[in-house]
Amino acid sequence: MPEKYFSYKSLNDLRADCQRLGVDLTFEEKLDALSHSVKIGNRTIGNAIGIHPMEGCDATLDGKPDELTYRRWERFGAGGAKLIWGEATAVIPEGLANPRQLLLNEQNMPDLEKLVKLTRTAHRENFGRDDDLLIGLQLTHSGRYSYRKPLITYHHAQADKLTYLDKKNGVKLPADYPVVTDDYLERLEDLFVEAVKRVHTLGFDFVDIKQCHTYLLNELLGARTREGKYGGSFENRTRFIRNVLGKIRSELGDTIILASRLNAYDGIPYEKDMATGVGKALPFDTPYQYSFGVDRNNPLKEDLEEPIQLIKLMMDLGVKMVNISMGSPYYNMHIGRPFEHAPIDGYIPPEHPLMGIDRHFRITGTVQAAFPGLVVVGTGYSWLRQYLVNAGESNIRRKRVTIVATGRGAIAYPDYAKDAVTLGKLKPSNVCIAVSHCTNLMRAKNNELGQFPAGCVPRDLIYAEILKETLGKKKRSPEPLTEHKQ
Ligand SMILES: Cc1cc2nc3c(=O)[nH]c(=O)nc-3n(C[C@H](O)[C@H](O)[C@H](O)COP(=O)(O)O)c2cc1C
Repeated sequence: MPEKYFSYKSLNDLRADCQRLGVDLTFEEKLDALSHSVKIGNRTIGNAIGIHPMEGCDATLDGKPDELTYRRWERFGAGGAKLIWGEATAVIPEGLANPRQLLLNEQNMPDLEKLVKLTRTAHRENFGRDDDLLIGLQLTHSGRYSYRKPLITYHHAQADKLTYLDKKNGVKLPADYPVVTDDYLERLEDLFVEAVKRVHTLGFDFVDIKQCHTYLLNELLGARTREGKYGGSFENRTRFIRNVLGKIRSELGDTIILASRLNAYDGIPYEKDMATGVGKALPFDTPYQYSFGVDRNNPLKEDLEEPIQLIKLMMDLGVKMVNISMGSPYYNMHIGRPFEHAPIDGYIPPEHPLMGIDRHFRITGTVQAAFPGLVVVGTGYSWLRQYLVNAGESNIRRKRVTIVATGRGAIAYPDYAKDAVTLGKLKPSNVCIAVSHCTNLMRAKNNELGQFPAGCVPRDLIYAEILKETLGKKKRSPEPLTEHKQ
C-alpha cells in the first residue's frame, strides 16, 4: 500500500492515475454547470452545489443545538452552497446515535427554529437573497447503532459479529438478542410522520427520511430473514418507508419537499486484518441473505435492481430528491467515505480511494440514468480535494448527477461553493485532506458528556484543540467561540 495516495500536482496527474487504475473519473477544467440553478419540486435553487448532512456531535444532552452546532450551520449558510442538507436528528431518544445528537421533540422546537433562521440570515447577508436556498433536516433512528442499546431489525450474520451490546466491556450482541417488534415499527412510523410535521413547522424547506449508513430504516430494507410484515419480500421490506411517505402525503400534501438519503449499496462488513492492518471482508455465504443493493451471488458488488425499484416507488409517493450514499460508517467505512488515513476504528483501505469514488459515481450515475428528471445528489467527492469541483462539473455535464455535495469537504471548507462559483476553482490550502480526524473525534467518548464534538482538525483550530483534549493533552480553553470566527 502506498504511504500516500493523494500526491497529484495537477489535474493531469490525477487523470493519469485514473487511467492507470482503469476508473471512469473525468474532469472539466472550466466550471459552469455547477453554477446553474436546479428545480426541486416547486422551488429553484441558485446553484448545483450542496452540503451533506454532517453531525457535529455537539448538541446539549437534551438534544438542542449548542454553540458549535449554531457555528457550523451558520458557516454553512454563509458558504454559498444552495442546498444545505441538515444533519441526522433523532425522532426518539432511544434512536440517538450518541448522547450529543440533535433530537426532534416539542421542547427543542424553538432552538431548532433558531438554527434554521440563523443559517438563512447568514446566507442572505452574504449573498443578498435566500429564496434560492434550500435547507433540510435529516430524520433518523439509529437502530443497531443507537448508543443506549442496539435496536436491530434482524440478525445479520456478519454485522452481528461487529455489534457491541456493551462496548466498554467488549460484550458483543448475543445470538438470542431480540429484534424490534412489528408493533414497535408501526409506532415508529407514526413518530416519523409527527416529526415531519414538526420539520415543516420549523421552516425547513425539505425533510429527509434517512435510509442510509445501516441505521434502522436502511437495515430494514435488507431484512430478508425477518419474519412478519416488515421482512422477507421486497414489498414487506419497503412497507415502512411506503407507509411513512403515504401518511405524510395524506396529511401534508406537497407543503414540504420530501427527500431521502438512501444507501444504494450497503456492501458487507469488513474488519482489520491483524497481520497487515488492511480491511478484509468477513467470510460470507452465497446467496447472500443480508443487506440492501448487494449482488446476492457476490455481495462485494452492487445490484441496483431493488434500489431503483424503491426509488420509483418513492417518487410515486412524492419524493422529489434522493441523496445517494452507500456503506456503513461502522463496518466498511472505505465504501462510504474514501479516505487517505484510516480512522481510529478503521483499517487501511483494501482499495485505492479512487476505486471507492468510482463506485460512488458509477452507482449514482446509474440511478440518475434510470430517472433523468429526478434530483439526484451525489456523494464521495471530498477525497479529490481541490479537484472535486472538476469531477462534479464533469458528472453534471455527463448527466451522472444533478447536485454535487460534500460532507468532510464542507466542514473543512464551508465556503467551497462560493469559491467554485466566483473563482472557478478551490483553494488547495482549504480543502479536506481525508485524514479521518473528524471521525476520530466522533468516536471519542472519554469526557463527562460521553461524547466529544466532531469537526475538521486540520482546517479549524477549535477542533485541533478538542483533539488534543481527547488525547488527554490539554484542557479545552474556555474562550468564547466568537473569537475564532472568520
Ligand atoms: C463527522 C461526520 C459526520 C457525519 N454525519 C452524517 C449525518 O449526520 N448524516 C449522514 O447521512 N451522513 C453523515 N456523514 C457522512 C457524510 O455526509 C458523507 O456521506 C461522507 O463523509 C462521504 O462524503 P465526503 O467524501 O464528501 O465526506 C458524516 C460523516 C462524518 C465524517
